[in-house]
Amino acid sequence: MSELTIAVCPGSFDPVTNGHLDIIERAARIFDLVIVSVSRNSSKIPLFTIDERMQMLKESTSHIKNVEIDAFDGLLVKYAKRRNAQVIIRGLRAVSDFEYEFQMASMNHKLNDEIETLFMMTNNDYAYLRSSAVKEVASLGGCVRDLVPEIVLKELRHKFSNTVSTERGNYDE
Ligand code: PNS
Repeated sequence: MSELTIAVCPGSFDPVTNGHLDIIERAARIFDLVIVSVSRNSSKIPLFTIDERMQMLKESTSHIKNVEIDAFDGLLVKYAKRRNAQVIIRGLRAVSDFEYEFQMASMNHKLNDEIETLFMMTNNDYAYLRSSAVKEVASLGGCVRDLVPEIVLKELRHKFSNTVSTERGNYDE
């Protein structure tokens, strides 16, 4: 029997965006199992708790059968090995991502050269999309409806006490 192909898709997911979902959906067409894993030890101050982020990921990926949502502590390569993953998937948006991603992939390769990092080009529609921009726009009452799954829109509205707009095209309100 051939071995299952397992990929880990790690990140902060604070919160998950349509750009993340696009990468997760495409990865799920290639691998038998995609483990989307939220990092517990991020240096960034998060808006959402780990549990909230996992719940939003669970709801927005419930239509994809071979996706599992998890969280991890410590080194990513150790976690990937423990989960029997052969591959780490990262989405690449623009040239500006490259330096950081290159450093991370090189470090991970140095730590464990049996785990490959694979980059997927982000869909053009989401090339500019980052969770931090979504949070900023939402906190200032701008419309993020086309950029995040429904559940995230709901949670953002909750966090920012209804300042989040749901109407398209009212960016200067
Ligand atoms: O969504 P992000 O914030 O760009 O994800 C970054 C993440 C979580 C993938 C990265 O910070 C990570 O892998 N952290 C775990 C610690 C680790 O393994 N560091 C060594 C590689 S530099």
